[in-house]
Amino acid sequence: MNRRDRRRQGKAGAAAPTATVAPLSVSTMLMGLAGQDAAAPVVATPVALAADPVQSLLARERQQRELAEELARQQRTLAAEPDSELLLRSVGRLQLRLERRADALITYRRLLQLKPDHAEAAHLAAILAGATPEKADADYVAKLFDAFADNFDRTLTHWLDYRAPQHVATAARAALAGRVAEHALDLGCGTGLLAPEMNGLVRRLDGIDLSPRMIEKAAERKLYHQLEVAEIVAYLAARPARFDLLLAADVLAYFGRLDDVFAAAQAALKPVGHFVATVEAHSGDGFSAGKSGRFAHGEGYLRQAAQAAGFAVASLQPVALRMEDGKPVPGLVFALGLQAGAD
Ligand SMILES: C[S@@+](CC[C@H](N)C(=O)[O-])C[C@H]1O[C@@H](n2cnc3c(N)ncnc32)[C@H](O)[C@@H]1O
Repeated sequence: MNRRDRRRQGKAGAAAPTATVAPLSVSTMLMGLAGQDAAAPVVATPVALAADPVQSLLARERQQRELAEELARQQRTLAAEPDSELLLRSVGRLQLRLERRADALITYRRLLQLKPDHAEAAHLAAILAGATPEKADADYVAKLFDAFADNFDRTLTHWLDYRAPQHVATAARAALAGRVAEHALDLGCGTGLLAPEMNGLVRRLDGIDLSPRMIEKAAERKLYHQLEVAEIVAYLAARPARFDLLLAADVLAYFGRLDDVFAAAQAALKPVGHFVATVEAHSGDGFSAGKSGRFAHGEGYLRQAAQAAGFAVASLQPVALRMEDGKPVPGLVFALGLQAGAD
């Protein structure tokens, strides 16, 4: 952050750039495009839930026009302040939202020249350059969700018709088949949207998340026995045979390769335990990384990774995870149980 950015941040009381940034819309957050700027004034209209397709199209066109105007405005400011980290980040996000991938790559590379350890720029530049990283950087994820914590619930439930917690709860209920899980863990619990859905299904529910601000929000619900800022794989690996139920609603989108998280989950489950989660569906083989910085997984890859970790697939179903640009985002919800004979 240069001196001018710092002055700007001091004045605003938060890290708000001078320029008005990305509307808090649709994919803004889930695409990894929100961040601290989510507090900035909204310049375009969210279009996620427009029921009428014509209205939805018009709203999207209006939004794209407003974003393009905003980008042009910020690029003019950037020309006068070429080393502004905040402006570069904001311009990169706008370019991504406008599908200007080549321009966004140039912007993120410029940001990396100035700040080689900029986690968001590194992650998105790698994807834009055609790489498929194995997972999202922990620092990037923590900062992204810290910045989004205050707006998460409203944006996800109001604008995006977010359903991942409900899908996970339904699949968990089926896997439990009338039993109550003694000790469940909500992996990447965020603000705790899953907790109320698990009412009556678990005796004790803990939660972990990389983002301290998301954990603070989850604590306000007073539905978790214990909450901790922690990384999923490391946390699970340190707790062998501890849990009856592991839950992950819209969290595996921050993991590309699933081997480590599946192996850690397998080891952390008691013998009759289940791991219930959603992924964004990828139509091809393996997994893919989107311009959003999030990952999507193919069903074949999911099954193969689960089996390799010693899991049997108890259920797997296609679901709509949320709306984006007026369309449902396809996902899979699945429940894994330990294979007979697995350690
Ligand atoms: C899209 S949010 C979903 C939050 C919550 N599960 C829900 O359904 O509302 C993804 C959450 O996963 C967390 N997360 C992503 N990768 C993580 C990791 N490796 N360890 C812990 N938390 C992680 C993020 O910080 C974020 O809060």
